[in-house]
Amino acid sequence: MDETLDQVIDLRSDTVTRPGAEMRRAMAAAEVGDDVYGEDPSIRQLEERVAELLGKQSGLFCPSGTMSNLIAIAAQADRGQEVWVDCESHVVHYELAGSAVIAGVQLRAFDAPNAGCPTSAQLLAMQRLADPAHEPEATLLCLEQTHNRRGGSVASVADLAEAADTAHGMGMRVHLDGARLGNAAVALGVQMRELADCADSLSFSLSKGLGCPVGSVWVGSHDARARAHIWRKRLGGGMRQAGILAAAGLWALGHQLPRLGEDHANAKRFAQLAADIPGLEVDPARVATNIVLLQTAAPADEVLARAERAGVLMVAFGPHTVRAVTHLDVSAEQITEAAARLHSALSGA
Ligand SMILES: Cc1ncc(COP(=O)(O)O)c(C=O)c1O
Repeated sequence: MDETLDQVIDLRSDTVTRPGAEMRRAMAAAEVGDDVYGEDPSIRQLEERVAELLGKQSGLFCPSGTMSNLIAIAAQADRGQEVWVDCESHVVHYELAGSAVIAGVQLRAFDAPNAGCPTSAQLLAMQRLADPAHEPEATLLCLEQTHNRRGGSVASVADLAEAADTAHGMGMRVHLDGARLGNAAVALGVQMRELADCADSLSFSLSKGLGCPVGSVWVGSHDARARAHIWRKRLGGGMRQAGILAAAGLWALGHQLPRLGEDHANAKRFAQLAADIPGLEVDPARVATNIVLLQTAAPADEVLARAERAGVLMVAFGPHTVRAVTHLDVSAEQITEAAARLHSALSGA
C-alpha cells in the first residue's frame, strides 16, 4: 500500500470487525460455567434470547456458521438422503463439502435468482419418485437469507413461505442459513421471527454484521435441539466456559442489531459512487443490504491489486466480479474516501 495513505479501508467482509471496549467489558463481566455440562448461564441466556427473537423453542450456541449449518443438515438428513440448495449458496461454495464429507448427504442444487429462494414450480419439478431402488429420498431444503453470493439480496416473507410450504408439502424439512438474518429483517422492515417462520431450523451469525469475535446460534424445536446437540459434540463443538463469547453476542443483540441500517445506507452510497468509476459496473438499485457486487472490465485480481495499493480491500467473487461489504467499522466518510481512492486507482485501468 502507498505509504502516504494513513488507513486501510477494509471492505472484504463484515467478519473483519474487532470487538470494541464496551463489548470486551461485557465479556469480562460474564458469568460462566462448563457448557458441556449445560452449566454456563451466559450461554443459556444467549440461546434463549436468539430463540425468542427468531420465534423458535430453543437455541444452541455454536462456534461458527459453518458448523451451525452442518449440524442442521446432519441432524435433519440421514446419510444417503438428498438436500436441496441454491447453486450459489454458502453451503455449496464455502463449506468445503462438509455436508458430503461428514453428514454423507447428496446436495442437489437449483438456480434461484430471487435471492436463492426457489419457486414452488421449481421445487415441484425436482420432486423425487417414491422409488427407493433408484432415487435418494429428498428430506431437506436449505435457504439462505440474506443471500451472500447473490449480492446480499433478500427474498420476501411470502416467497420464503411459498418455498417452505411446498417443501413441507413434499414431506421435507426446511433449514434457513440466516447468517445475516438481521440485515434481511431491516431491509424488509419486518421482525426476524417473521422471516424465520418458514423454517424448521436456522443458523444465525454473531460474528458478521454484529461484530462479535465468534459464534453462531442454531435454533429450532426442543426435539431438533436434542439431535443438534449430539452433532455439535460429535463435531468437536462442545465448549466449556464459553460464556465470555456468549456475552459478546448478548451485548451485540442489544447494541449492534439496531444499527444495521447504517451499513445498508453506506453500501447503497458506495454503489452509487462506484457506478461512476470507469471499468466498474454496478446497479445501486439492486443493493438491498450491506453487500455490493461490482462487475469489473479488467480481471478481478487486477482490480483488487490496484485497490489494495490505494488502501481499499475487497475480495474476488468471480473472474470479473468483486465483492465489497460494509460493516460497523467503516464510517460514511470512509465509504466516500474508499470510492475516491478506487476512482483514482482504476482510472486508465
Ligand atoms: C451466508 C453465510 N452462511 C454461513 C457462513 C459461515 O459462517 P462462519 O464464517 O462463521 O463459518 C457465512 C460466512 O461468511 C455466510 O456468509
